[in-house]
Amino acid sequence: MSNDTDDIHNRETVTTVDTVPREPDQQDTPLLVVRNLSTGYDETQVLWDVSLDVMRGEVVAIVGANGAGKSTLLSALSGLLTPWSGSITFAGLDITRYRAERIVRLGMSHVPQGRRLFPGLTVEENLRMGAYTRRAGSKKAIENDLDHAFTLLPRLRERRRQFAGSLSGGEQQMCAIARGLMSRPELLIIDELSLGLAPNVVDDLLAAIDDIHRREQLGFLLVEQDVQIALERAHRGYILENGHIAQSGPANDLLNSATIRAAYLGE
Ligand SMILES: Nc1ncnc2c1ncn2[C@@H]1O[C@H](COP(=O)(O)OP(=O)(O)OP(=O)(O)O)[C@@H](O)[C@H]1O
Ligand SMILES: [Mg+2]
Repeated sequence: MSNDTDDIHNRETVTTVDTVPREPDQQDTPLLVVRNLSTGYDETQVLWDVSLDVMRGEVVAIVGANGAGKSTLLSALSGLLTPWSGSITFAGLDITRYRAERIVRLGMSHVPQGRRLFPGLTVEENLRMGAYTRRAGSKKAIENDLDHAFTLLPRLRERRRQFAGSLSGGEQQMCAIARGLMSRPELLIIDELSLGLAPNVVDDLLAAIDDIHRREQLGFLLVEQDVQIALERAHRGYILENGHIAQSGPANDLLNSATIRAAYLGE
């Protein structure tokens, strides 16, 4: 890959930045429907009657403080934690009891909190791990997806042979997102994109996500402690407090709500 080509990709990413998310197709059926979901660990209940929807192509934020249950909710959605009650429907299928691998194959991909890359593998090897559940797992299809992921996140192409453990924090997050894209999801869930990263690095990642959203029409579920970052990007948002959905609505309304600004933005 020549530097010229990389420059073109980089320019594309930077110049198409637009903070207004594309409106989802409200006529379409919802992609994800969660109803009265309750779950927890052993005897300890963490989530109570959580209900939420994500339309196709919609960007939805779930925000809440440390320990509110955000990651627990994502574990339940992606089949890593068994729901105690309630239902999860994805692309019209009841996936409440599905195993994680089957859910990835259906098109829901989860970028976990803390990224969970294999530090001793290269960027490219980490991305190939993301293709393991591909429906059409042919070599050619995986090569195409790898190329596609590098086109969407061009900085990774330059670093494809670098060990993931030697990447900067922002590059590692980019690598985790690219790995999530390798299963060709319809919904990409990102748990704490901004955690531990400098504001300018977070801005770069969000610009890359805007770009991917526009090009791919993917749905995104952005889960964040940082209320401002997530709600600025989303069409709609849900506030999770102590395992309950405390408020929900258009992201702008939540961002402008005096209660939320007082509780989460120290105003
Ligand atoms: N594997 C586990 N076993 C037992 N309890 C757990 C486990 N994981 C999380 N918990 C508990 O569940 C509650 C919710 O944790 P969770 O990680 O879902 O919160 P969170 O909103 O993602 O927090 P953060 O913003 O810090 O990531 C906490 O009380 C936590 O201690
Ligand atoms: Mg968490």
